[in-house]
Amino acid sequence: MPTAPTAPVPSASSSLSTDSAVLLDRLRAGLPADALRTDPEALAAHTRDAAPFSEAGTPAVVALPHDAEQVTHVLRTAYELGVPVVPQGARTGLAGAANAIDGCVVLSTTRMDRIIEIDPANRLVRCEPGVVTKHLNDAVAEHGLTYPPDPASWERCTIGGNIATGAGGICCVKYGVTADYVLGLDLVLPDGRRTRTGRDTAKGVAGYDLTRLIVGSEGTLAVVVGATLALRPARPAALALLAQFPSLTAAGDAVAAITAAGHIPSALELLDRATSQAVADHGHALLRPGSAATLIVESDTTDPAGDLLAMELLCKEAGAENVHTASTPEESRHIIEARRLVTPALGAFAATLGGKPTAFIEDVAVPRSELPKFIGTIEEIARRNRLRIFTLGHAGDGNLHPTVVFDESDPQEFRRAQVAYDEIMAAGLALGGTSTGEHGIGTLKRDWLTRELDPVNLELQRGLKRLFDPKNLLNPGKVVEA
Ligand code: LAC
Ligand code: ZN
Repeated sequence: MPTAPTAPVPSASSSLSTDSAVLLDRLRAGLPADALRTDPEALAAHTRDAAPFSEAGTPAVVALPHDAEQVTHVLRTAYELGVPVVPQGARTGLAGAANAIDGCVVLSTTRMDRIIEIDPANRLVRCEPGVVTKHLNDAVAEHGLTYPPDPASWERCTIGGNIATGAGGICCVKYGVTADYVLGLDLVLPDGRRTRTGRDTAKGVAGYDLTRLIVGSEGTLAVVVGATLALRPARPAALALLAQFPSLTAAGDAVAAITAAGHIPSALELLDRATSQAVADHGHALLRPGSAATLIVESDTTDPAGDLLAMELLCKEAGAENVHTASTPEESRHIIEARRLVTPALGAFAATLGGKPTAFIEDVAVPRSELPKFIGTIEEIARRNRLRIFTLGHAGDGNLHPTVVFDESDPQEFRRAQVAYDEIMAAGLALGGTSTGEHGIGTLKRDWLTRELDPVNLELQRGLKRLFDPKNLLNPGKVVEA
């Protein structure tokens, strides 16, 4: 986990101490009473997202606008008064990008949760940012359509948050990530100006791609008040297999063979030795203790049974020793359950630690071919630092979540966990990887971003921030320093 921030997050206390009453009065002039909260419960509840160890302040006020006009009013007011604004969705993010700053306005888009239009002929949906990802999927399913990106928190997270983080998920190995589905955005800029990026057409290359720029910008450039998203025909029913391997290399060989043979699984997930053991200990009947790695593979082709059979053979050729291939949706659910059980299994393990157990989930991506080497290095880092690190992740994307479970109340263990975090990030970059595959930079990884990008690239990034937000008021201190 990150060490103390090198640069303090800007504080708005100076502007607010001059007159926080003025801020509230001005906000009240354009918002209904129920859209402004200053009670301590609301302020506390909107302090941070789901990232541990990320600095967070206390907002002066939480604004919960109902529509784009009200968002515009909030931004324009804050701009005129020089008060920072931190956009928030469901706060399920894992990088601290939605963490409040002392004295800021938190701008929550959760009440803007309308689905405006489902357009099967053009295979798209228009919606507001506060729509919960699962609700969007349920609504489009009634038209025989699907919106594939499936972050782990999809039952709670919002489309606005998915766009802000550029969220990924399990089926992204086949269907792509959030960025691949955003056709156009309605935006409010930090000074209150409105604009629309993108298009409704399936193709389109007019001008610079501002839509892609906003996706993954973590609420630092503009506030999304509307999104036009591409849809796909509903996915066919899927079947899954689970395979355990005697070595990481064998599991890596299986991933490579599946890809090389032209299969496109709809999930290709990996649990390392420690994670497999934790899930087995937690009582999943299919997992045998003692294996080096587990792969969970799902197929949703028109012939999933045939596709899985071919992938089962490739796993066995690579040395898999405990293979279960589902022939029914129920068996598939049981297999997928092994992935879903990771969080409770790690929670159960953490509870045995005593002290103040903490699970710090990481997010690093390496080229697929480097996966076995990367996991081996993580295991070595865990041994050397006398830590329990559980590595799981999206093997098909080379995107891993090494998770350090440790006793935060033990200063030495905390220190060792920090060292391990840095070593894992450095190892990922050294293998040609990236410091975040899908969770974002937020406050946690600002230092790592500066190590990952070359100086010219960084200067362009800072220049873009200044262009969109010359007063550095929209989510300042996140991603890049202006
Ligand atoms: C997952 C989240 C943490 O893959 O990205 O479970
Ligand atoms: Zn993930």
